[in-house]
Amino acid sequence: MDFMANPGGAVNGSIRVPGDKSISHRSIMLGAIADGTTTVDGFLEGEDALATLNAFKAMGVNIEGPENGRVKIHGVGREGLKAPKGELYVGNSGTTIRLLSGLMAGQKFSVTMSGDVSLNKRPMERVAKPLREMGVTVETAEGGRPPLKITGSNALKAIHYDMPMASAQVKSCVLLAGLYSTGETSVSEPAPTRDHTERMLRGFGYPVIRKGNTASLVGGQRLQGMHIDVPADISSAAFFMVAASIAPDSELVLQHVGINPTRIGVINILKAMGGDLTIENKREVGGEPVADIRVRSAQLNGIEIPEDQVPLAIDEFPVLFVAAACAEGKTILRGAEELRVKESDRIQVMADGLQALGIRAEPTEDGIEIEGGQIGGGEIECHHDHRIAMSFSVASLRANAPIHIRGADNVATSFPNFIELAEQVGMRVEVAK
Ligand code: S3P
Repeated sequence: MDFMANPGGAVNGSIRVPGDKSISHRSIMLGAIADGTTTVDGFLEGEDALATLNAFKAMGVNIEGPENGRVKIHGVGREGLKAPKGELYVGNSGTTIRLLSGLMAGQKFSVTMSGDVSLNKRPMERVAKPLREMGVTVETAEGGRPPLKITGSNALKAIHYDMPMASAQVKSCVLLAGLYSTGETSVSEPAPTRDHTERMLRGFGYPVIRKGNTASLVGGQRLQGMHIDVPADISSAAFFMVAASIAPDSELVLQHVGINPTRIGVINILKAMGGDLTIENKREVGGEPVADIRVRSAQLNGIEIPEDQVPLAIDEFPVLFVAAACAEGKTILRGAEELRVKESDRIQVMADGLQALGIRAEPTEDGIEIEGGQIGGGEIECHHDHRIAMSFSVASLRANAPIHIRGADNVATSFPNFIELAEQVGMRVEVAK
């Protein structure tokens, strides 16, 4: 499927983007191994979160829905999962394979997980290494790629793990394996990463301690089913934050957006560039802070992006690069080598795309330098990466000719109704074929 993004337009209205992907994955995983029933509202009905849901159905968990974002999970308890009949296919979803590796580590059966062409290129040694230290047998394909075979044990060794990279997926994997270990498992992170696993575990009644840059828990305790209200995904809202910032005569309200402090890098960076964003009706929903975000058009300026914001905006860089292309002057990003191992190599793919549209964008080993300018028309290749497709859709607001976006199918992994919402607020993007 391709998108055709026609140039121009203003962005106005008030919308709620779909549920947070990270929280949706975790709601199924923890709900499944809890005692009792867990109900979820606002669940993301995108392919990635559904891959997690289907994996647990394949392991014998009775899950009703999703229906209008509502899911009911009949928890089987910490020892209740059953061996799936075959391999677990998790599609495009890095969060499913990496978090599930941690949970599978504590089971008495072995599981093989595989993914699509994009996921099968992504590094899994980062989870294999700590799991092996805990006594798990982990087999990967060549180069530490999926398929990943995990042969668990119900007597894992508790470890302390110093993460070499700032990754919430690795942290969560180790903590989830830690649920099945004897003693205290702890993970230190080189920079703060999203803490949804820790928050949700506490919501399920499972104590998690945070001291400085270290999160820890003691294995062997039980989780109690609960109700989870999933806020709108700030990573999906980010496309519209940039859209309303760069399009003239725009004012947009994004409703009920999760503003967990470990996720708000995009707001901080856009504000530092001169963006006009206000946080309204701040409240807390099920242990996660939520707000409405009002965004108005603004003249953006190029900046050196503070490196401490990188993990807090890690999924938002493709669209932030579009903001940089519309800004006055140069934007410089460093310390973001993790972008090269996402659903695509987001530094290279975005640089190629921006260059194709006439913007000066120079990739560096760990970042990019982008000079603001006039966005032209042209053809973009998404490389199976949802966020590339949506970012170049946003770019069309300031382009002077149509942008043909090739291979946009994976938008459905995180944002199934993107086109509808984009059209509703005034963007001129449509499905081409
Ligand atoms: C996620 C963590 C991040 C992020 C991904 C979701 C999570 O990945 O990019 O989209 O839900 O834990 P890393 O942990 O690899 O940085």
